[in-house]
Amino acid sequence: MKILASRRFPGPAWDELDDVEYLAGPLAAANRREDVDALAVVGERIDDETLDLFPNLRIVANYGVGYDSIDVAACAKRGVALSNTPGVLTAATAELSFALLLATRRRLVVGDRAVREGRWRGGWADPDFLGRDVSGSTLGIVGFGRIGRAVAKRAAAFDMRVLHHSRTPGDGGWLELDELLAEADAVSLHLPLTDETRGLLDARRLALLRDGACLVNTARGRIVDEQALVTELVSGRIEAGLDVFAHEPEVPPELLGLPNVVLAPHIGSATAETREAMTRVLVDNLLAAARGETPPNLVYPDAEAP
Ligand code: 8YV
Repeated sequence: MKILASRRFPGPAWDELDDVEYLAGPLAAANRREDVDALAVVGERIDDETLDLFPNLRIVANYGVGYDSIDVAACAKRGVALSNTPGVLTAATAELSFALLLATRRRLVVGDRAVREGRWRGGWADPDFLGRDVSGSTLGIVGFGRIGRAVAKRAAAFDMRVLHHSRTPGDGGWLELDELLAEADAVSLHLPLTDETRGLLDARRLALLRDGACLVNTARGRIVDEQALVTELVSGRIEAGLDVFAHEPEVPPELLGLPNVVLAPHIGSATAETREAMTRVLVDNLLAAARGETPPNLVYPDAEAP
């Protein structure tokens, strides 16, 4: 099975594939290729036009759990399977959400910068370093799938009261989104980016957040109206820990100097162990497709076995 890959993916599992070619440039600029059976991609936009370049494609294997850059309907209508890498990045992403929550709440980056720049004068009463308790506060989790639940588990160890919202009302702690936003001290987003969730946290909903509340986003930047978020953050009314942005790797310049924001470069799954485990899952899906079996992590359940 001929695989065209965005890059060499980390870890030993990658070497189990024997016919791999690497993209020389952007996928959209590739020549038509009738010999390619599989694409192994990370972040590339895949739509009708891209798929037209590979008429014999059997599978698109996405390195990541989120597949918002891929037109699922376009794959489905051609009978091209689509797989992702769920599960193995749950803990790492939940961990980073917590790291951002702690770093933002406890002024860790502001403090680090002050120490490095020789601005720590030994006083303990500097108001710039005065944070807010994480322990005992209320966390609102929006999107209560694998990662949202893993964040809830970690929150329990911090004696936090956990509220959550997902499409279907669930077990204890479920609230309507607007109620959750108004009730929580911190809100963490764990939704996929879809037509339904794009811009879900618009200016009206952001205004529901309590004064001093903290928004954590390790999901996708476009779930939030980024301009409205910038306005709230520049005003200093709320704070945020952000790993994702609407136009990565661009970050709104207004955020760069703000003390109430902690910024990260989309590193939710970026641990050595997790990235290798993601490669393992990616490769298992490709190997299953090569054997003519149904890949274990098909994104749309009614996809035909390639
Ligand atoms: C990756 C992610 O960093 O899994 C996802 O959806 O966003 C991250 O794990 C991403 O796939 C790489 O762009």
